Amino acid sequence: MGVIETQGLGKRYAGGSVIALEDLTVDLGGGVTGLVGANGAGKSTLIKILLGLLSPTSGSARVLGHDIAGGGAQIRQLVGYMPEHECLPPDTRAIDFVVHMGRMSGLPPAAARERAADVLRHVGLAEERYRLMGTYSTGMKQRAKLAQALVHDPQLVMLDEPTNGLDPAARDDMLGLIRRIGHDFGIPVLVTSHLLGELERVSDHVVVLDAGHLLRSEATQSFLGDTGVLVVEVLAVGPDAQARMGEALAARGLVCRPHGSLIEIDPTTAAPDALRDMVRDTAADLGLGLVRLQAQTGQLEDVFREEVAG
Ligand SMILES: Nc1ncnc2c1ncn2[C@@H]1O[C@H](COP(=O)(O)OP(=O)(O)OP(=O)(O)O)[C@@H](O)[C@H]1O
Ligand SMILES: [Mg+2]
Repeated sequence: MGVIETQGLGKRYAGGSVIALEDLTVDLGGGVTGLVGANGAGKSTLIKILLGLLSPTSGSARVLGHDIAGGGAQIRQLVGYMPEHECLPPDTRAIDFVVHMGRMSGLPPAAARERAADVLRHVGLAEERYRLMGTYSTGMKQRAKLAQALVHDPQLVMLDEPTNGLDPAARDDMLGLIRRIGHDFGIPVLVTSHLLGELERVSDHVVVLDAGHLLRSEATQSFLGDTGVLVVEVLAVGPDAQARMGEALAARGLVCRPHGSLIEIDPTTAAPDALRDMVRDTAADLGLGLVRLQAQTGQLEDVFREEVAG
């Protein structure tokens, strides 16, 4: 803990009529932290406050030990920031842009060129680094934005919606890069998304914002552990194998529902061991092979939906 600490942070816009953040107190450490919330939840506002680009209306925060009040310039020197909106000059080559950003962060010319080539290769733009960025696809632009955030060897990176506009394959690549930054390189990452499901795969810690209010801030594991549903998959020996299994489980008093090719069993209907025995015996009675029997951790999306509804 202690990489990012906020205390009662609040932000109002438009003369106080728009509440973007309200009384936010969090203490975030290393690894990857996912900052999750719907459009307008306050994610970008929080990042800009942490960078010292916006002043909070109330409260305080420290980033890497520096107070945001007065320490903005120092913080921005230590932090790599990938903004959510497009910010790339279209008539500039990626290599020149990233070298320039490295120079702006204080790297000497030779080091900036070397680091720029390294980070562009790392994000998968080795071949295309001499192209004008105006000719880039959305996926390539997001990679170039990530490269400029990493060029000066930051001690913390803040990525605002890095998967925005990406197709599923490109999104997986980006999430893989983020995981490597946080885990292989050991640089703490704060990453935002409104697609809750994708952050659970890369985040060690999740912060959920709802209309400027903190819903939760906790380790991803404990977050997801709350809704352990038992998942059963039977060998599809006939078209109705799954339906027969579901009916037989229901006949034993279990609450279950089909989910694609799987059957989900409500974990509260029996003790965990008894539940597994019942599933095994039911499959054996029906002569069906069990492909899978496992406790499924909840999806962030489900947790989020319940929290907002409740
Ligand atoms: N400059 C501004 N003036 C007035 N209101 C603003 C301003 N910037 C943001 N807001 C409002 O503050 C709230 C939080 O906005 P913010 O951009 O931080 O949300 P976000 O979680 O990043 O959303 P998104 O997922 O759409 O990027 C929203 O209601 C937004 O309309
Ligand atoms: Mg935003």
